[in-house]
Amino acid sequence: MRPTALILALATATVVSLTAGCSGGVEGTPGAAGLRDPYFPKAGNGGYDVTHYDLTFDVDPATQHLRGTAVITARATQDLSAFNLDLAGLTVDSAQVEGRPAAVNRAAHELTLRPDAEVESHLHKGRTFRTVVRYSGSPLTLTDPDNSKEGWLRTADGSVALSEPVGAMAWFPGNNHPSDKASYDLTVTVPKGLTAVSNGELTSRRTSGDTTTYHWHTAAPMATYLATLAIGRFDTKASTTPDGIKVFTAVDPKSAAAGARTLARIPEVVQWEAERFGPYPFSSTGAIVDRQNDAGYALETQNRPFFPGPPDVGLLVHEMSHQWFGDSVTPESWRDMWLNEGFATYAEWLWQADKEGVPVQDSFDRAFANDANWAFPPADPPTAADISQPPVYGHGAMVIHKIRQAVGDDERFFALVRGWTKAHRHGNASTADFTAYVEKTTGLDLTNLWNTWLYGRSRPAAKD
Ligand code: TRP
Ligand code: ZN
Repeated sequence: MRPTALILALATATVVSLTAGCSGGVEGTPGAAGLRDPYFPKAGNGGYDVTHYDLTFDVDPATQHLRGTAVITARATQDLSAFNLDLAGLTVDSAQVEGRPAAVNRAAHELTLRPDAEVESHLHKGRTFRTVVRYSGSPLTLTDPDNSKEGWLRTADGSVALSEPVGAMAWFPGNNHPSDKASYDLTVTVPKGLTAVSNGELTSRRTSGDTTTYHWHTAAPMATYLATLAIGRFDTKASTTPDGIKVFTAVDPKSAAAGARTLARIPEVVQWEAERFGPYPFSSTGAIVDRQNDAGYALETQNRPFFPGPPDVGLLVHEMSHQWFGDSVTPESWRDMWLNEGFATYAEWLWQADKEGVPVQDSFDRAFANDANWAFPPADPPTAADISQPPVYGHGAMVIHKIRQAVGDDERFFALVRGWTKAHRHGNASTADFTAYVEKTTGLDLTNLWNTWLYGRSRPAAKD
């Protein structure tokens, strides 16, 4: 939209809402432009809660051009006169709210939609409404505060979208904060011969002419940072575990031989983790293995983690454990990241103890001795550049081990962990939720433990 048109649209909206106020109707206000996350204050938006994303894309890997339509179903949490979506780059071609054209404004990563007067008069708190955004362009690779790359990443034969912490806004408009989870449908059309892999389950694949369309359905609530889409040449395998969980792996052909041994252990790892952490939270699992050097990290994308190359079993254990810690039980804010990485690191320690004869206490001792783990308290990273730093991982795992020691009994410790994943299954949880849960369940006053291990700034003189 041209600037003059926007000013007119805004002016019209102002007049209309004043009129509504005079006639005694409920006057809506704009939803907030951010959820005031302590590290990413502009991430997410206020005034609504997304229940479903229906995303349809055409992607041409040769030009890295994308044409997309996002149909977003949301429930208003206030009377709304306007609301924001997060979107970085790309061109918005049109937007509709409840089937009628909406005025569009863009500023940095904020896309503001102002519905027309008729629609606005219905956007009351509690109402479910539908937004359609048509957009196109070459999606951006984003650089995080810690200089890591996310968003849309090119690969030799296509691309992969990685979205932690805020990269989802590089490839679809949405409420880009972990506290707003939703179900998803992703329909992606790519040149014939290429595969498009995402979260959830593949519900259809159709080739017509020289393109193939893949439809992926994610029924369980998913945070935007866990959404992925990998496009390229892949060797794919579909199977089912003895427990009836579907397994879908997509592996870059050049990594297939090296990755096969570890990936064959997915059912074993899922089963082993389910025994400790509670029932596997989703109906499908798997992995995506691509060659991606710009990111170079693995990510716990929901259902099937992403690996930038063939993983070793420790990394598989780590990413798969995130399906419980992060994907099902999702942080309330980015401050709670240690709940993801502390548990995922502890899962590695448990695996090493069980399968490789390395006592957990040895892993703890090594983490304790590592100065990098003491740069800041796990539950209080100083800046957004620190949320993936060692204290969040190794020191976070130390906190879990101290809880295990306080509980004293392994049966009761693992029951505590299973109770936690059950209590917040498919939901969100904060550090305060966790400490309250642990104290309530154990009946212990753990003030000293939290002050020393979770919030303490200096390494205690003794490990115990
Ligand atoms: N969260 C991922 C994991 O632990 C790793 C990760 C994602 C990461 N983005 C990052 C690590 C940026 C460092 C920097 O599985
Ligand atoms: Zn992790």
